[in-house]
Amino acid sequence: LPVEMANRKAPLVFEILAECETTKARVGKMTLVHHHVDTPVFMPVGTQGTLKGLLPQQLEELDCQIILGNTYHLGNRPGADILRKVGGLHKFMNWKRALLTDSGGFQMVSLLQLAEITEEGVKFKSPYNESECMLTPEHSIQIQNAIGADIIMQLDDVVKSTLTGPRVEEAMHRTIRWLDRCLSAHEKPDEQSIFPIVQGGLDSELRSKCARQLIKREVNGYAVGGLSGGESKDDFWRMVHLSTDILPKNKPRYLMGVGFTVDLIVCSALGIDMYDCVFPTRTARFGCALVKTGQLSLKQAQYKKDLRPIDESCECSTCKTYTRAYLHQIATVETVSCHLLTVHNIAFQMRLMRDIRNSIQEQRFPRFIQDYMLTIYPNKD
Ligand code: GUN
Ligand code: ZN
Repeated sequence: LPVEMANRKAPLVFEILAECETTKARVGKMTLVHHHVDTPVFMPVGTQGTLKGLLPQQLEELDCQIILGNTYHLGNRPGADILRKVGGLHKFMNWKRALLTDSGGFQMVSLLQLAEITEEGVKFKSPYNESECMLTPEHSIQIQNAIGADIIMQLDDVVKSTLTGPRVEEAMHRTIRWLDRCLSAHEKPDEQSIFPIVQGGLDSELRSKCARQLIKREVNGYAVGGLSGGESKDDFWRMVHLSTDILPKNKPRYLMGVGFTVDLIVCSALGIDMYDCVFPTRTARFGCALVKTGQLSLKQAQYKKDLRPIDESCECSTCKTYTRAYLHQIATVETVSCHLLTVHNIAFQMRLMRDIRNSIQEQRFPRFIQDYMLTIYPNKD
C-alpha cells in the first residue's frame, strides 16, 4: 500500500472533473487503494481469476484500470482460505490495478436455476460437488474480504426485470435488510468500499423508495441493479434516470451488467459512472468483433478474401497486425482467435469510454451522442 493511502481512511475518493451542461453526464477520477480510475469507465469481466484470453499485462497495455472478479467462482475455487493465505486476488492473479467483485448471488440465480432464496440467503447446490450450500450476506462479505477487491458489492435479492407483483417488492425490501447485514459483516472498511444496489424492478415507486433508503447509509458509492434483463429500452432508461436523480451527485454510480454501445452512451448521459458486462469478451469467443456500426461475425464466408483489418482506425495490436481474412481463417482455432478478438473488443470498449470522457470534458457530448446514433442507426433518406 502506498503510504498516503495507508494513512488515509477513505478507500475511495471520487472527484468530479467536468460536468456536461446539457445532460447529467460527468467525468470523474476515482482513487482506489490499488489504482485510479477515470470515469465513465467500462470494467471488463474476469471470472475464474483471469480474463479469458488475456494476461494482466495485456490488460494494462490496453489501458484498462479496473476489472471485475467474481465471488461465486472464487469462493468455490480456490476458496477463501487460500486467497487469504496468498494475500488476496491481486497477488494471486498478478493484477496490480483496481478490482471490483460482485457478491455472487446474482450469478447463482442467473446461472443455476436451482437457487432458492430465503431470508437467510441464497441456497444452492454446488455445481462442483452437488452439496447444499448457502450464500448469506455475511458469507459473501467474508469471501469478498478475503479476495480483497477495492470495491465489493452487497448481496442483493435480484428478480428478473420483467417480473411484476409482490415478489418484486419483497426482493427490494430484502435487499435493504441484506445491505445492513453486509455492512455489519464488513471487516475492512478502510481498504474496501461496499456498494449498495438499487433494486425494485421496473416500478418507479419501488425503485425510488429503495434508492431513498440506500442513501441513508454512509457508503462511498452506489449501484443500480436488476436491469438489462429483457425489458424495453424505455423502461430501462426510465429506471436509470430515476435512480441517478436520487443517488448523491458526489459519489460514483455503477450500472450493473450493462455494456452495449448505445446503453453506455445513453446511461452516461443519465449520470452513470461505471459499467460491466461479459458481452465484449463473450462475443469475442464466438468469433465476433465490435465495430462502430455493430459487429463483424468473422466466421462468415464474406470475410474469406477481405484483406482489411477489423477497423482501419483501430490502434489495437490485432488491427495493426491481422486481416479479416486471416481472422476468418483461424476462427475455428479457438484459443488464438479468442485472444486476438478479445484484444480488439476490449480496445474498442476502452476507446469508446475515452471518447465519451473527452467529449464531456470538451462540452461536446450532445453532439457526440447525435453523431454516434447516426452511425449506429444510419438515416436511410
Ligand atoms: N449483475 C448484473 N445485474 C446485477 C444485479 O442486479 N445484482 C448483482 N449483484 N449483480 C448484477
Ligand atoms: Zn482493433
